[in-house]
Amino acid sequence: MNVILFGPPGAGKGTQGDLLAKSAELRKISTGDLLREAVRDGTPLGQEAKRYMDAGELVPDQVILGLIKETLAETGGQKGFSLDGFPRTLPQARALDVMLAEMKRPISAVAMLDVNDESIVKRLGGRWSCQQCGAVYNQFSDPPKKTGICDKCGYGLVQRKDDEPGTVQRRLDVYRQQTAPVLEYYRKGVTPVHTISGDRPIEEVQFDLRRMLGL
Ligand code: AP5
Repeated sequence: MNVILFGPPGAGKGTQGDLLAKSAELRKISTGDLLREAVRDGTPLGQEAKRYMDAGELVPDQVILGLIKETLAETGGQKGFSLDGFPRTLPQARALDVMLAEMKRPISAVAMLDVNDESIVKRLGGRWSCQQCGAVYNQFSDPPKKTGICDKCGYGLVQRKDDEPGTVQRRLDVYRQQTAPVLEYYRKGVTPVHTISGDRPIEEVQFDLRRMLGL
């Protein structure tokens, strides 16, 4: 089972991908997480990606495709994967088709998490992430037990630079201009595309997602 978690910034793709990884052993592949790791490690790729990420712009396709190819190659023995934040442009979607055809691991479904802009701006303003283990919280909907401290590893929580309101607005514009057409690409193809309302409690969204995937 290989699924694409699709949707605007802050729709809950990462949150749902983490839950699928726990309950269905689907490896979560998040290009955003891979890029943030490269930025933290100070690799040349991370240094190049940082200026695009901080501005809310997309990192060039060739950088992303190199990263994803490497990561997909590690999924051989695994039950399947969820893709979070990829593909985000038509060239990425077409390149993914070629990679997965070579691997004989087609996409089983695309799940579009639908959330309105107002909720997104509020959610991203309240998102806190652990700098050590990457766990994600929300001060409104999913707060940590102790403010500013990760429940899982006890490290400090930080806010993402690209969650500032001006950058969130830019990310939403970029989503509409460059990423939304990817959904049309899948709608015209053979992979089933399902829309799930992401404007509900996290557990309800997960329930629908699992039902839609037949899990
Ligand atoms: P990326 O990290 O992929 O950012 P994004 O797509 O903007 O998505 P987010 O991580 O902001 O949100 P999410 O949908 O995962 O929501 P989450 O579960 O965290 O990309 C960052 C940057 O990297 C891009 O701008 C770009 O520069 C670059 N990049 C990445 N991939 C790229 C690619 N393929 N090509 C080119 N560039 C690329 O939830 C958000 C918050 O809401 C959390 O606090 C969470 O607790 C809360 N929440 C989740 N679900 C709910 C719910 N149901 N109700 C209430 N709160 C909820």
